Amino acid sequence: MDSKARITAQGAYIPSTVLTNEDLEKIVDTDDEWIVSRTGIKERRISEKNEQTSDLAYRAVIDLTNKYGSNIKDVDFIIVCTLTPDFKTPSVSSYIQYKLGIENAGAIDINAACAGFTYGLYLANSLITSGVNKKILVIGTENLSKITDYTDRTTCILFGDGAGACLVEKDEENPSFISVINGSNGSKGKNLYASNIGSILDGSPIDKNGLIKQNGREVYKWAVSTLPKKIKELSESCDLNIRDIDWFIPHSANLRMLESICERADIDKNKLLTSIRKTGNTSSASIPLSINLATQENKLINNQKIMLFGFGGGLAYSGLIINWNLDKKVN
Ligand code: UT7
Repeated sequence: MDSKARITAQGAYIPSTVLTNEDLEKIVDTDDEWIVSRTGIKERRISEKNEQTSDLAYRAVIDLTNKYGSNIKDVDFIIVCTLTPDFKTPSVSSYIQYKLGIENAGAIDINAACAGFTYGLYLANSLITSGVNKKILVIGTENLSKITDYTDRTTCILFGDGAGACLVEKDEENPSFISVINGSNGSKGKNLYASNIGSILDGSPIDKNGLIKQNGREVYKWAVSTLPKKIKELSESCDLNIRDIDWFIPHSANLRMLESICERADIDKNKLLTSIRKTGNTSSASIPLSINLATQENKLINNQKIMLFGFGGGLAYSGLIINWNLDKKVN
């Protein structure tokens, strides 16, 4: 019999330092009114100088174990989704395995930028349903402030730091995963990059300073024209009417853009859950941060159908429909 997988617990962590729109007004030529009306962001969290991506990830998992009392010593695979790993090697996931005292776990970092966390959940489900693994930690963690150009007003108003984690476990009775869609439009990749060792991107020289560069208008156009179709395909693939989705949790990129996607995909805007207002765009951490916020606000109830949709750098996307069915909180 095929194995099945359930998301059993979640946790999150955000650094304590707040960077408000008013703070940004002192750094670049911008204002609170522009930022709020164009993006929905009021503030974001910024890590300390020596606070690394792995530190954020570690704290998100500790929050998970504190809240749900989950035993993570027998986790057999760790997937860390990040575009801001501490190092090219060692991986964040190997460090997390060591820091959490998990003895026997495979450990990989994956980078699908803002689609990372949904790709991570998809992989966790696949590894469990293949029968190979039984308990997997999926962590979305980002230290974007360390690669943000605070002289570029078109990007520095967007990004922040944070981490979120989910535990995915083998469960034959109550599987979480209903349907998935993955894809990529690599021809548009040059619209959103942060340099590494390459110096030519799709035939053109790039800025080599390692900081995020984005053609926001192009990414915006791609997102509002592509994602509604993909959302429809995702719900149709499991014969679910889009109106039967209880909550829509997309990557928190830009509230105005997400509302436009909702309109085009026929999703009631009251079903949209984001973490954009208080934590900005945190790339692969934004979906688990939205989950955490909605859990704190008691919005997510077991047996609800939730659509998660990650998208961004690549330009890649990954959507999931899941049945929400977490363990009971102990704290
Ligand atoms: O997470 C990964 C995926 N990324 C995304 O999904 C990002 C998608 N794109 C966006 O969120 C939006 O394109 C932005 C928020 C980045 C920009 O908003 P926009 O409404 O597309 O603005 P725009 O680039 O069309 O610029 C409009 C005007 C320009 O001035 P002119 O040329 O009309 O005179 C900009 O120079 O707004 C100006 N502008 C600003 N003004 C005040 C750009 N940034 C700012 C700023 N403050 N921070």
